[in-house]
Amino acid sequence: MSEEKKQIEQIRQSFQTAFAGFVHLHKEIKDLTLADAESYQRELAELKTKHTGKKSELANSKKLIGRVAPEERGAFGSFVQSIEREITTAIEEAETNLKNFIADAKIERERLDVTLPGTQPREGHLHLLTILRQKIEDIFVSMGYSIEDDREIETDYYNFDALNIPEGHPARESQDTFYTTNGFALRSQTSTVQIRAMERRGVPIRIIAPGRVFRRDTPDLTHTPMFHQIEGLCVDKNITMAHLKGTVGEWLRRLFGKETRIRLRPSYFPFTEPSAEFDFSCFKCGGTGTFESERCRPCKGSGWIELGGSGMVHPNVLRACNVDPQVYSGFAFGFGLERMCLLMYSLDDIRLMFENDVRFLEQFR
Ligand code: DAH
Repeated sequence: MSEEKKQIEQIRQSFQTAFAGFVHLHKEIKDLTLADAESYQRELAELKTKHTGKKSELANSKKLIGRVAPEERGAFGSFVQSIEREITTAIEEAETNLKNFIADAKIERERLDVTLPGTQPREGHLHLLTILRQKIEDIFVSMGYSIEDDREIETDYYNFDALNIPEGHPARESQDTFYTTNGFALRSQTSTVQIRAMERRGVPIRIIAPGRVFRRDTPDLTHTPMFHQIEGLCVDKNITMAHLKGTVGEWLRRLFGKETRIRLRPSYFPFTEPSAEFDFSCFKCGGTGTFESERCRPCKGSGWIELGGSGMVHPNVLRACNVDPQVYSGFAFGFGLERMCLLMYSLDDIRLMFENDVRFLEQFR
């Protein structure tokens, strides 16, 4: 074999070794990931430049054609050409395979079955206390009340003095009320909003004030140191206890049905005179005390459910808000939201409401 032919043979050898390595890598083409295939495609392009590009040994070898004896030139030329064809064919075949594979993989990746059912996002819902609060708010708003929101950290003046709660009253003692280190009280009742609202809006006024209140109670079945109350206040000329009974009755009838009756029992609160606790006929037994021939649970067989406190706003409270008790009178009431929720859903532990166990909460949509 001539020297030139040997050189060509070497070029062919070195290509075949390199290509064999490459082919070995992409033999199992159907098992490649799209990213692998794309990186092999880049490698193949490098291989192609190296072995067939302008600066490749193959391109260089064409100069050898001129060096061989004229009578051998023809045969040598076609030899070089055949090697060149062999190399380019091998590369082109690999290129085509990879290109087809990549195209198919892309189509597969973008395949979309429009007949498949969609994935539905899990929808959340409001907390049961919020649901009940909003129901009650809606009822009062429809009766012309507005909703008043106010601060949870109060001075003694708003939490006690202005509400006619004198020094020495048990509610003022610190075992009931949380105090901040600089002497502010966490409000222990929403009645504070009565004062704030009258100062801000003057009279006549009709508001309800839902909100958090805080008391130094150890958590148990019926106590948590934070709970919610809803306060109501109506002040105008000629407001009487009849308006109180009518309003509370209307609200509870809308919530529990039109057969619901209410009753007021004489009581004492510093900020009302006279004061009364209000009860309503049990929503479960209809006031009979018996449900499915057993002692009714929510009302404990009494037929009545005790809900909250109420009364005619004390003249001292009106005076503290610059309202003349000779001209204006009003009623107020307040009750705990958690207690109402416990009764309505027959729950026996108030703490369930704040543990945020989704399995519990999901039952009350
Ligand atoms: N603030 C009272 C409590 O926390 C409830 C209450 C009683 C509110 C009588 C009132 C009322 O507005 O008139 O126990």
